[in-house]
Amino acid sequence: MNKDNIDSKKTSPEQKELVKEFEKTKKTLEETNKFLLNILESSSSVSIISTDLEQNILYWNSGAENIFGFKSEEVVGVRKIDIIYADASTIHQVQKVRKQIIKTEKGMNCELKQVTKNGRILWSRMTLTPRFGKNGKIIGILGIGEDITEHKRADAELRDTMEKLRKTLTGIIHATEMIIETRDPYTAGHQRRVATLAKAIAKKLSLPEIQVEGVYMVGVIHDLGKISVPAEILSMPRRLTEAEFNLIKNHPKAGYDILKNIEFPWPVADIVLQHHERINGSGYPAGLEGNDIILEAKVLAVADVVESMVSHRPYRASFPLKRALGEITQNREILYDPDIVDCCLELFNKDNFQFEEREEPSPLLG
Ligand SMILES: [Fe+2]
Repeated sequence: MNKDNIDSKKTSPEQKELVKEFEKTKKTLEETNKFLLNILESSSSVSIISTDLEQNILYWNSGAENIFGFKSEEVVGVRKIDIIYADASTIHQVQKVRKQIIKTEKGMNCELKQVTKNGRILWSRMTLTPRFGKNGKIIGILGIGEDITEHKRADAELRDTMEKLRKTLTGIIHATEMIIETRDPYTAGHQRRVATLAKAIAKKLSLPEIQVEGVYMVGVIHDLGKISVPAEILSMPRRLTEAEFNLIKNHPKAGYDILKNIEFPWPVADIVLQHHERINGSGYPAGLEGNDIILEAKVLAVADVVESMVSHRPYRASFPLKRALGEITQNREILYDPDIVDCCLELFNKDNFQFEEREEPSPLLG
């Protein structure tokens, strides 16, 4: 619309109103444009780079100057965008992204390894969006990037520290397991087999990987507290008296006391404390019920019962697997969590789960 043309003819009030509206919109657009240009120019920590389809640099803001060390006049119309990519694999990665943008005409985000004028390597999170010409066809790509090098470094350091911590804690668990093994190989073997079954149940319950690992870790030391029980009671070749059994019943608390001050990524001490609790409150030491018992402790309880029944005990021969599975089926939802029992039954009945070979207990230990 041309204002002079309109003015030169006789104009109606509606046309005059339209012209006023047009002038207002034009002014707003100019101001917005100026505002946006200002942002582009003054962003010192954000790189904004525009290229054509041949990857020639057409626009390079002050943020790009700051980050990459090249002045705008050194690169605009002179260099291709690949001067800021750190290596051949990044160039390949960007080519793939650009092809995708041109094909779909949609923007994409990516993390790129880049290099500055003086050779410093940096990481940027880039948002790449297509630019369209007047005919609506794509004519280039606009990239907006943020330096995330520090962020990446801190992330890697944190991962590294976590990994070291995990190794340390795993080391503590294995050292504990070895101490138990030295004193009581029978219990050590039992714990390993319980841990393997408990881990398989935890996987079947679709617990997160970290929780599955925790179930295994606690499994291999869950009877740690038995080191506080005199060895002759553990290997007594007859049924225990009530007083003797009470000594054994103290082992979850004894294990808890040894572990309670160590910071693990899992509630190790509490799981150890609760592995003889039963969901109807008939277990020990606290008589906890249902959801007051930690899930991992309920998993260990089922694995513990099955393994114990199929193992030889100093005072009795082993029971057949059928009888052990009968025990958990009969007390499903009474003593044991029903979902855990179902997973355990499925492992034996459908998945052919088998315990590793058991070493016969040494005659010295009964
Ligand atoms: Fe136990």
